[in-house]
Amino acid sequence: MSEPIGIGVVTISDRAFQGRYADQGGPGIEAALGRLLATPWRPLRRLVPDEMPAIEAALRDLADAEACPLIVTTGGTGPAPRDVTPEATMAVCERLLPGFGEMMRAVSLRAVPTAILSRQVAGTRGRSLIVNLPGKPSAIAECLDAVFPAIPYCVDLIG
Ligand code: MTE
Repeated sequence: MSEPIGIGVVTISDRAFQGRYADQGGPGIEAALGRLLATPWRPLRRLVPDEMPAIEAALRDLADAEACPLIVTTGGTGPAPRDVTPEATMAVCERLLPGFGEMMRAVSLRAVPTAILSRQVAGTRGRSLIVNLPGKPSAIAECLDAVFPAIPYCVDLIG
């Protein structure tokens, strides 16, 4: 049997990082991936505060050292001053894939008018695809389900 693929699961939240509440985003990503992925995989988990250097370091490590073909983040995509996940993602990506954010917002907007507030982006760093999701657990499944059909093909194209 082949080695399970390492997938980066990054929770970006000041309060979860400080232990003020339990991380629900990371487990939410893992539950959604468990439904969607056909190949054996294992999560490489990171929990970081809403700080650009910490987010960038986690993304670089998962892409460069751990060689994750896919890295999914949750949280920090909104318009609040401490929401910097899209900026950190853009700083580490060599190329952006705007269709991911457009699709996730379009699908989410059918159910939630506030989905327009998410600035989520996606892009590639080397052979890794990085996808931002909002922090709300219900948003994780909605967004990941919407773009997942393109993910294995994208990973093939950049690999
Ligand atoms: N997308 C979906 N599918 N469902 C949601 O409930 N909430 C929105 C938006 N996107 C939401 C959503 C809200 S209220 C905000 S503020 C933004 O995501 C950003 O959330 P974040 O800062 O936790 O990433």
